[in-house]
Amino acid sequence: MTASILLCSIALLSVASAFPSPTTTANNLPTIWVAGDSTTAPDGGHNGTQGWAEYLHYSFGNRVSVNNSAYAGRSARSFTREGRFDMIAKAMHPGDWIIIEFGINDGGSPTNGSTSTTGDKGRADCPGAGDETCTVIFNNTTEIVLTFPTYVKNASKTYLDLGAAGVIISQQLPTNVWQTGSYAYREPIFAYYDMCLGGPEKHVYFVQHGSYAAQAQKILGADIVDANYPMDNTHTSPLLADVVR
Ligand SMILES: *[C@@H]1O[C@H](CO)[C@@H](O)[C@H](O)[C@H]1NC(C)=O
Ligand SMILES: *[C@@H]1O[C@H](CO)[C@@H](O)[C@H](O)[C@H]1NC(C)=O
Ligand SMILES: *[C@@H]1O[C@H](CO)[C@@H](O)[C@H](O)[C@H]1NC(C)=O
Ligand SMILES: *[C@@H]1O[C@H](CO)[C@@H](O)[C@H](O)[C@H]1NC(C)=O
Ligand SMILES: *[C@@H]1O[C@H](CO)[C@@H](O)[C@H](O)[C@H]1NC(C)=O
Ligand SMILES: *[C@@H]1O[C@H](CO)[C@@H](O)[C@H](O)[C@H]1NC(C)=O
Repeated sequence: MTASILLCSIALLSVASAFPSPTTTANNLPTIWVAGDSTTAPDGGHNGTQGWAEYLHYSFGNRVSVNNSAYAGRSARSFTREGRFDMIAKAMHPGDWIIIEFGINDGGSPTNGSTSTTGDKGRADCPGAGDETCTVIFNNTTEIVLTFPTYVKNASKTYLDLGAAGVIISQQLPTNVWQTGSYAYREPIFAYYDMCLGGPEKHVYFVQHGSYAAQAQKILGADIVDANYPMDNTHTSPLLADVVR
């Protein structure tokens, strides 16, 4: 316990001293980069559904540009393994913002011998909230699988070290809160916020996006919400995606 608190403050000090001041980007507009899964991504889960970040630019007008790098089917683990957090790291500029929202594909436990279409599909994180690891063979390669917080914290720290103006760790969206016929919402386990990164003082923010979306769906009511999950209880129509952006 003492050791981990100590490590935490050392890590924090190095982030603080390395933190560059925001500079302007090529087009003088900061970019908001979005990492996430199909509930966030362009074309959502396909079949006419849409991810919420496609509408995010309407919240900012011409003051920022938005790059929606979310990708259907991904978890914090597979987004890391496939180098998708890295792609954002390479493309971003100091002064940019990054939103990270995962959870719907992160559940379960890593299993040996899964492929991109079988088993846990290389998506399940190692259970736990700390530095636990799980060793599995995925796609014929040995993979040390980490916990959800480890992946999110690592990506956040990468962006902060590169001078991000802020990292927003966003709680996953709910599935249809009316799917049983009456309203039900439970806080997800894949929500993470670590004061080790320094919190708002160090430009790390947690947004209760899921709770907000559940509240919006509650107010809209069952008929409207059911009609705006056209394919399943996970992927939203463009209208509902826009409501929760
Ligand atoms: C979604 O569309 C694909 C073809 O693009 C189709 O194979 C699939 O069955 C559809 N799924 C649903 C749930 O409508
Ligand atoms: C941490 O982030 C860096 C940069 O995105 C990435 O290259 C590396 O694989 C990540 N490591 C872990 C343990 O997630
Ligand atoms: C958005 O970011 C990704 C990296 O995550 C990059 O490959 C892509 O070209 C960017 N899109 C635009 C339109 O700049
Ligand atoms: C599986 O491994 C092959 C060979 O290294 C690679 O080309 C492919 O992208 C991997 N597939 C997945 C789903 O990671
Ligand atoms: C997967 O197989 C490896 C090698 O046989 C083993 O060390 C590991 O514990 C297995 N992992 C799981 C989750 O079963
Ligand atoms: C794993 O390797 C075996 C034997 O080399 C091969 O038959 C199989 O197609 C490979 N699986 C994947 C997912 O690449």
